[in-house]
Amino acid sequence: MTVSLRPWRAEDIPALARYADDPRIAANLRDAFPSPYTRADAQWFVEDCMARDENDVLFRAIMADGQMAGSISVVRGADVYRQSGELGYWLAVPFWGQGIMTAAVEQICREAFDSLGLVRIFAEVFACNTASRRVLEKAGFQLEGILQKSVTKNGQLYDSCLYGLVRQRGEEGRET
Ligand SMILES: CC(C)(COP(=O)(O)OP(=O)(O)OC[C@H]1O[C@@H](n2cnc3c(N)ncnc32)[C@H](O)[C@@H]1OP(=O)(O)O)[C@@H](O)C(=O)NCCC(=O)NCCS
Repeated sequence: MTVSLRPWRAEDIPALARYADDPRIAANLRDAFPSPYTRADAQWFVEDCMARDENDVLFRAIMADGQMAGSISVVRGADVYRQSGELGYWLAVPFWGQGIMTAAVEQICREAFDSLGLVRIFAEVFACNTASRRVLEKAGFQLEGILQKSVTKNGQLYDSCLYGLVRQRGEEGRET
């Protein structure tokens, strides 16, 4: 399986609308991720990604053997957090369990360190999301802490886990 990342294109809208409209995906994401997920939601998302300033965000379609299979992003923080970026991702259900997201996370972190000049990338995962925690651990992230009862999702309280990946010593970018 060849995994690559590329900017979103208008032609991705139908597949995005089809794959994102799945409660097994929404269950692990913030409520800002629509569920049900309509074609209008997909169109808004792709157009928003295409309009973003690539100095502050990377929004990428995950391509698996040339097919659009999911979404991954790194968003630069503001103010004193401006050299940190938050990682987020989801993969369409038919592609789960083949190592695709681990490869995608490794690729976007390299790109975010290089092109956004970040020093730190972090992700916050619901504690019960074992697969996502494993993805981050395989990609070299460290568990930095457990945020007790930090998440309210579908009427339930959950702990979340804060994971961080810090650029290696000697490679820190100087602020420009
Ligand atoms: C989480 C998600 C991104 C994983 O993508 P993926 O491509 O299937 O992940 P990978 O195949 O790279 O790795 C998954 C790992 O988790 C493991 N895993 C999967 N389900 C598991 C479970 N229920 N319990 C324990 N381990 C599990 C796999 O065995 C694999 O580890 P291994 O390589 O050591 O065997 C995907 O399931 C998804 O999009 N879920 C819904 C949205 C989501 O959770 N997004 C992340 C929010 S933080």
